[in-house]
Amino acid sequence: MPYAPAALEKPVTINRLHKMKMDGEKFITVALYDAPMAAMAQKTGVEAVLVGDSLGMTVLGYDSTIPVTMEQMIYHVEAVARGNKKSLIMGDLPFMTYATPEQALTNATRIMQAGAHMVKIEGGAWLVETVKMLTDRGIPVCAHLGLTPQSVHKFGGFRVQGRDEARAGEILDDAAQLDEAGAGLLVLECVPAGLARRITQAVSMPTIGIGAGDGTDAQVLVINDILGLTEQPPKFSKNFLQETGNIPGALSKYAEDVKSGAFPDEAHTFS
Ligand code: KIV
Repeated sequence: MPYAPAALEKPVTINRLHKMKMDGEKFITVALYDAPMAAMAQKTGVEAVLVGDSLGMTVLGYDSTIPVTMEQMIYHVEAVARGNKKSLIMGDLPFMTYATPEQALTNATRIMQAGAHMVKIEGGAWLVETVKMLTDRGIPVCAHLGLTPQSVHKFGGFRVQGRDEARAGEILDDAAQLDEAGAGLLVLECVPAGLARRITQAVSMPTIGIGAGDGTDAQVLVINDILGLTEQPPKFSKNFLQETGNIPGALSKYAEDVKSGAFPDEAHTFS
């Protein structure tokens, strides 16, 4: 039966997202930053929302996510949590606020107290101890691999990651170690579709792709891209407002296309 977007009836838990992976049912994620959009996501049945540090670029006008502060993240997590009582809310820990496990614990506590249900951190095997530290203390963690924007200067730009065998193997190994450490979800950003599919099959945690093809357990897009607000949109994003003409319609069409597997298609995928 085709998916029809409908309001979430009860709060989405991490267990429900894990069950959806087991059942092969894709879930919808949107990165957004304010109460009205958060409320619309709840009405559209968006299972998970991410208060991403992309807000540095999409809302605050910076060139990267690096200048984003804890105070800015907390301000936006609180707004999203006020607008949405049903989606699972993830909050990013910004640049250098989780350089040590102890620092991660202090800052993740603040994000959770602002209303998030999970924190997201960028990086590979070096975060194993941090993931254990947080999850052992009751803070669920979403890991983030591939193009991790906080490392943009290390990568020399916003570049697809994992096209060569060595880097692909590294990302695969990082994913396995973070899964083993207890991470609950994994964002895969800008990696070839084949690699994302391999990782999704190898790990128990659900994967959320952005520029990672159609083989992940879920998709995430930034609300500004969905609504055509980005001046130079990345190849993997899609302006759903163009074909629908209004904001609720754009969000619904995105949700429908993720559920049916129509998005992402070849044109929005890296190989
Ligand atoms: O900050 C963000 O919005 C993100 C997504 C693009 C995955 O990390």
